[in-house]
Amino acid sequence: MTFDQWTRQVLDRVESALDHYLPAADVQPAPLHDAMRYAVLGGGKRVRPLLCHAAGELTNAAPEALDAAACALEMIHVYSLVHDDMPCMDDDDMRRGKPTVHVKYDEPTALLVGDALQSQAFVTLTSHILDAQHQASLVRELALASGSIGMAGGQAIDLASVGHALTREQLETMHRLKTGALLRAAVRMGALAGETPSADTLASLDKYAAAVGLAFQVVDDILDVTADSATLGKTAGKDAKDGKPTYVSIIGLDASRVLAQQLRADAHAALEPFGARAQRLAELADLVVNRVS
Ligand code: IPE
Ligand code: IPE
Ligand code: MG
Ligand code: MG
Ligand code: MG
Repeated sequence: MTFDQWTRQVLDRVESALDHYLPAADVQPAPLHDAMRYAVLGGGKRVRPLLCHAAGELTNAAPEALDAAACALEMIHVYSLVHDDMPCMDDDDMRRGKPTVHVKYDEPTALLVGDALQSQAFVTLTSHILDAQHQASLVRELALASGSIGMAGGQAIDLASVGHALTREQLETMHRLKTGALLRAAVRMGALAGETPSADTLASLDKYAAAVGLAFQVVDDILDVTADSATLGKTAGKDAKDGKPTYVSIIGLDASRVLAQQLRADAHAALEPFGARAQRLAELADLVVNRVS
């Protein structure tokens, strides 16, 4: 199977699983469920679900278990995007090529869509598809990665840093939390959804995920400067306008591109112990770094 075929197959199954794990649009309160489905379905690159499925291949995880983990990750990710776009945070009116949730609906709805998606992620992880032991370990991974020492903590640092000159070390910490933590969880949860991974396997995957997670936000910072809004599906040039500290603002565009390629090489090196079994993870590292949107 080519990488494109594999990707298409995972994206198709994740899309139908998301449709299944989200409440139907006619379940009451219907307007909230309609808005949750608007935010989640039919858009986004689905990088976290892809990483989760690729890592699960290393521990022979059941595809249905990986679907549940992938959907939970994507629900948390979309919740973070819906809140990130609100006027009290980045104040963006376009996301995934569509009006943001608070523009299409209203601000209270956007707040509640995020809240409800966060809960729905944990409902999804505790479905009967996973046994109790797997449920507990995956819930803990996702909760840690999305909370105050993960994504939410990173967002807090991001907002507090507007207009401040961060050191490169502070910037890396912010990126590792706001974006890296959930991407790391995607890799770990994929591996943990199957046969118990050895400590060495998890350590190698952590190294891989640290590189890919940081690379992902470095590239997001680059694309904000180099890509246009139509390609990105979100407003380009927003970071500089808002005075956000980014890799581009702190080390410059060329050095950011060099760093992204270095991190890609680090990700590949971390996968060496797995040989050909980690082919999809290696291809995903390339995708993250070489993407154009
Ligand atoms: C955007 O994430 C926000 C960041 C964490 C940088 P993605 O680039 O994964 O957004 P979608 O899911 O493809 O829309
Ligand atoms: C958002 O980072 C990260 C999270 C949503 C956790 P950004 O603010 O850079 O994401 P975009 O550029 O709006 O997608
Ligand atoms: Mg932001
Ligand atoms: Mg933003
Ligand atoms: Mg950005």
